Amino acid sequence: MKSVDDFRLKLGDKEVVPIMVGGMGVDISTADLALEAARLGGIGHISDAMIKTVADRRYNTKYVREKLKLYKFNVANPDKSVVQFDLGKVAEATHLHVRGAMERKRGDGLVFINCMEKLTMNAPKETLQVRLKAALDAGIDGVTLAAGLHLGSFSLIEDHPRFRDVKLGIIVSSLRALQLFLKKSGRTQRLPDYVVVEGPLAGGHLGFGMDWAAYDLATIVAEIQLWMTENQLDIPLIPAGGIFTGSDATAFLESGCGAVQVATRFTVTRECGLPDDVKQHYFKASEDEIEVNQISPTGYPMRMLKSSPAIGAGIRPNCEAYGYLLDSKGRCQYIDAYNKTVAAHPDARRVSVREKTCLCTHMRNFDCWTCGHYTYRLKDTSNRLADGSYQLLTAEHVFHDYQYSKEGKVALPD
Ligand SMILES: Cc1cc2nc3c(=O)[nH]c(=O)nc-3n(C[C@H](O)[C@H](O)[C@H](O)COP(=O)(O)O)c2cc1C
Repeated sequence: MKSVDDFRLKLGDKEVVPIMVGGMGVDISTADLALEAARLGGIGHISDAMIKTVADRRYNTKYVREKLKLYKFNVANPDKSVVQFDLGKVAEATHLHVRGAMERKRGDGLVFINCMEKLTMNAPKETLQVRLKAALDAGIDGVTLAAGLHLGSFSLIEDHPRFRDVKLGIIVSSLRALQLFLKKSGRTQRLPDYVVVEGPLAGGHLGFGMDWAAYDLATIVAEIQLWMTENQLDIPLIPAGGIFTGSDATAFLESGCGAVQVATRFTVTRECGLPDDVKQHYFKASEDEIEVNQISPTGYPMRMLKSSPAIGAGIRPNCEAYGYLLDSKGRCQYIDAYNKTVAAHPDARRVSVREKTCLCTHMRNFDCWTCGHYTYRLKDTSNRLADGSYQLLTAEHVFHDYQYSKEGKVALPD
């Protein structure tokens, strides 16, 4: 019987352990977590979601305060089109985050950055280009283009000197999305180096509608595999979403996949950026405490713990400080939902907005508890302590459990 360790992912001339820890914004997949995956010979992700906020937290910069100061005059205005990101500062913050991680990298693995294109930042194309170029300049090993995949993204960086040597990957949830991307990016004569196929059990935003339960990862992967063989395309496929044990991972590798992308099991590690008390909520969650809802202003369904403080909160939009989800016209679905609720309750001192949530603020404060479907199984991966809490794991422990375990077993920590 095989384990994940019997396989290796080949990316160009590089061979790594075929375990990729997925990107988790905002700073949930920290540099520390990504660096552990790389040290152990696999691939870790940092994320560039809300990069200025992350830089302020990690590098003592004051980007958010400065932006708020600049646009404070606009706080009560529902039209946020004047609230623009300073591209130089986006580049600077990205540089700090990526350099800071890459300088600390040890071992044979790789550190990639997860770049969610749905963070349209009031100027989708310009900000995305700056984010990507700054990450390449700062020496990132690879970029995974995620949520809201922009079909022309490769062309935004095709004149960068590292365009052909950096590893570039995309996340898709259907064969059709992959076909569209390959068609559009064909002009750059550059195929993705890997394709993450994310199924409906993943955490974060889903590439499915509210009928997500009608889909199944293995079926989507098999369909894409067949199409790639028919079209003589040799790009490693990396399934993601609900791969909970080493045996789940091994089954995908035996069927010809290049690696697996996993995240949920790492949310309860010390290196994960969630506060420790939130990690305990993840450990303790039962299946019926997890839902897929539509409160993300991105328009994509998102999986969360039902007890997430972000659900039904009613804070005033914070776009002058953050504004990562503003579209090219300075709009965000939360602004509309908030104003509608306030108009319906003119005398209320506080409102509860049910329709949408202020994702920027709640992700920044770690009170949007997005999670994978199998979060309810996390309690089986650790020891319960005398006070009723669960023992936090190390990233090394979880990584090795994926790498070596067999027969559907999950190793408990010492
Ligand atoms: C807490 C959490 C946050 C996530 N955030 C992101 C994100 O910012 N960008 C992204 O592309 N995927 C995100 N994901 C998806 C993961 O990268 C990964 O593909 C998926 O969750 C793998 O499935 P698993 O969690 O069942 O192992 C997130 C997942 C979790 C659990």
